[in-house]
Amino acid sequence: MGLQGDRITIRGGIPLVGRIELKGAKNLVTKAMVAALLGESPSTLKNVPNISDVRIVRQLLEVHGVKVTDGAEPGELLLDPVDVESAHFAAIDAHAGSSRIPILFCGPLLHRLGEAFIPDLGGCRIGDRPIDYHLDVLRKFGAVVEKQPNGIRMSAPNGLKGTKVSLPYPSVGATEQVLLTAVRAEGITELKGAAIEPEIMDLINILQKMGAIITVDTDRVIRIEGVERLEGYNHRALFDRNEAASWAAAALATDGDIFVGGARQPEMITFLNVFRKVGGAFDIEDDGIRFYHPGGDLKPVIIETDVHPGFMTDWQQPLVIALTHAHGVSIVHETVYEQRFGFVDALVEMGATIQIHRECLGGHPCRFGQRNFNHSAVITGPTKLHGADIEVPDLRGGFSHLIAALTASGTSTVSNVGIISRGYENFITKLQLLGADFDLEG
Ligand code: EPZ
Repeated sequence: MGLQGDRITIRGGIPLVGRIELKGAKNLVTKAMVAALLGESPSTLKNVPNISDVRIVRQLLEVHGVKVTDGAEPGELLLDPVDVESAHFAAIDAHAGSSRIPILFCGPLLHRLGEAFIPDLGGCRIGDRPIDYHLDVLRKFGAVVEKQPNGIRMSAPNGLKGTKVSLPYPSVGATEQVLLTAVRAEGITELKGAAIEPEIMDLINILQKMGAIITVDTDRVIRIEGVERLEGYNHRALFDRNEAASWAAAALATDGDIFVGGARQPEMITFLNVFRKVGGAFDIEDDGIRFYHPGGDLKPVIIETDVHPGFMTDWQQPLVIALTHAHGVSIVHETVYEQRFGFVDALVEMGATIQIHRECLGGHPCRFGQRNFNHSAVITGPTKLHGADIEVPDLRGGFSHLIAALTASGTSTVSNVGIISRGYENFITKLQLLGADFDLEG
């Protein structure tokens, strides 16, 4: 399936029932692939999902001379960075606008080659998504950053040296930038205000396997002692808790019952609490979690998205569909991305009652409150959704649109569903397995 232009026609009203299997987290696997660049020997990454974000990072590694081959088991990648080389501008630029991962190539490439070129970044349009923290961090390590018309060129004429960094906000990407750069920088790096998402902890697991020395202290402080040499790693990626939450939300909204193989409780505690408060039920088993609608009315909730261990921003979009069925007024205060409610226009067209406000509603004032950002949603239910022609705006908003169409009466056409394949492996096959009634054009 391509990235644009694919359409799915869904006849809604059928509960999703069955079992699906998760693979590794998109938001770890893509970074783990970049980490392989730091090793002097090959790495093996297992549990890699077949999603387009992985394919983009694979191509970017290949244009830099990394040999990437499929391993013996499904989802296994072998990454050999022994012949890393500078890529031609055109080969890198071909990936401009396709992903946000290229920014994380900077530290490893500066260590390996002394220079790096990063094309203009892509990713979901859910806010401004600046890279100022990344560039500030790289400059602190000693990189020379030069903005060019098509991207950013960097060099490290005097090598990279450990430094003290204090992030203004616990950014996931900027924390990964520090980790991937500090592990081979000379001396000690102290990072304050770090993000501590489970995917970051798993990246730290990988870096430690490679030979890095990283201490995670309390209060979001991470200390890294730079080492001269790192080897390849052998690692099975942490499961994708965002995909798990998405299918859980689909089970609840469609009155369904989905066993999500590979899902684990510890990384989902905050989600499970909210899922239960809305009226969903779950059974935690050794090999996954069963999510289901146990009958009865769904209840309204107040959610504030936050960095880990808070309620993840990526969970709110799929869950909003269940909230349109809840009896009463729910509030979602989005504090991570300033523009993550673009997807609700289509839901309103389908019959939902959702108002978006600039104020910080239902929680604490956040950094978007005094600015002109529509970042709080008030959802009044229950409403019945009806079929409509809608267009996927971004990855999680797109999955939310799929759920909306699956719960709506009549037929819906959802276009641009190719975007969903950026982060959901085989979602069409999974929908078939769960009994959805649809036709795919593309
Ligand atoms: C990662 O994005 C994920 N993407 C996102 O998932 C996820 O929503 C997000 O972390 C939060 O958990 C990947 O891992 C590829 P951030 P990232 O840096 O690293 C601001 C999905 O759908 N900021 O933690 O880009 C930024 O604008 C995606 O799977 C700056 O101001 O997120 C945002 O408001 C969407 N300057 C906040 O920090 C910077 O230099 C958090 O962003 C960097 C970030």
